[in-house]
Amino acid sequence: MFVSPAAVGEKCGLQPAHSGFSHADWHSLASFWHPVAFSQEVADQPFAARLLDVDLVLYRHAAGVTVALDRCPHRSVPLSRGSLKAHTLACAMHGLRFDGTGRCVAIPSAGEGLRVPDRLQLRTFPSIERYGIVWTCLNGEPRWPLPEWPAFEVPGRAFYTATDIWQASAVRHVENFNDVAHFPWVHGGTFGGEAEWTVPVYEVASTAYGLSFQLPYVEGGNRFPDEAGRGLTQREVVYTYELTFPFSTMLVVDVQGSDFTHWFCDTVCPRAVGETRIFQIFTDTQGVADPAYWIADA
Ligand code: FES
Ligand SMILES: [Fe+2]
Repeated sequence: MFVSPAAVGEKCGLQPAHSGFSHADWHSLASFWHPVAFSQEVADQPFAARLLDVDLVLYRHAAGVTVALDRCPHRSVPLSRGSLKAHTLACAMHGLRFDGTGRCVAIPSAGEGLRVPDRLQLRTFPSIERYGIVWTCLNGEPRWPLPEWPAFEVPGRAFYTATDIWQASAVRHVENFNDVAHFPWVHGGTFGGEAEWTVPVYEVASTAYGLSFQLPYVEGGNRFPDEAGRGLTQREVVYTYELTFPFSTMLVVDVQGSDFTHWFCDTVCPRAVGETRIFQIFTDTQGVADPAYWIADA
């Protein structure tokens, strides 16, 4: 699922003809919320995003953020090349302006008094901002809720973000984020433990939202700033992974012998079948995580 190539001629509706997803995978994925931007990326300019091969424009206005097809209904110019004017999105070609509902509210070249044709309406999608991320759903009716990450909604607690684009499927990235066996090999210079480590048998539970599992680990070094770990050269931790379908994972690192906890959330946008944008947020009980460390080692 989600990675099978498309058969010729099976595309329809919103899925572009060049899309590499099978029709079934595309429609299945279109029924979920997906992250498309960090909130701070959608500021005083339109922002271009891509989800499931669909080019989108995001723009901020008084009532929030609108997500729409990145195509002007007048002459198909990408609206992400436009600008924001008085809480409307202005197309770069002829200056038609669209409000937060996607309705055209001004045609500069037509002067006063012309009725704006109804067809000058953007195709918009639901949007929600949570955890500093803008999420959208292409089919308009998400089948699953957003992940619940309460550690990132504690007033006054800072959290940090990281992002990247992988030339890999979303499934491959999620598999990597939930894989523990690579820690000694890939992260040996930071938190990876002994290379001879045998992964213990652990149980993966089905939850209402996805999957969950937990296992102990002995990290090499000591990356945590808590008092209880002062002078230690390795740390015993318990990792709890909570996967919300399809592509969102929260990793809770519970540091043993300490009240220190680290939260590391990872969610991805399937831009195309082989291209994935990664959104990561992380924090800890002190709310002062070291962003340089986590970005370097994510
Ligand atoms: S193409 Fe957008 S206003 Fe004409
Ligand atoms: Fe890794």
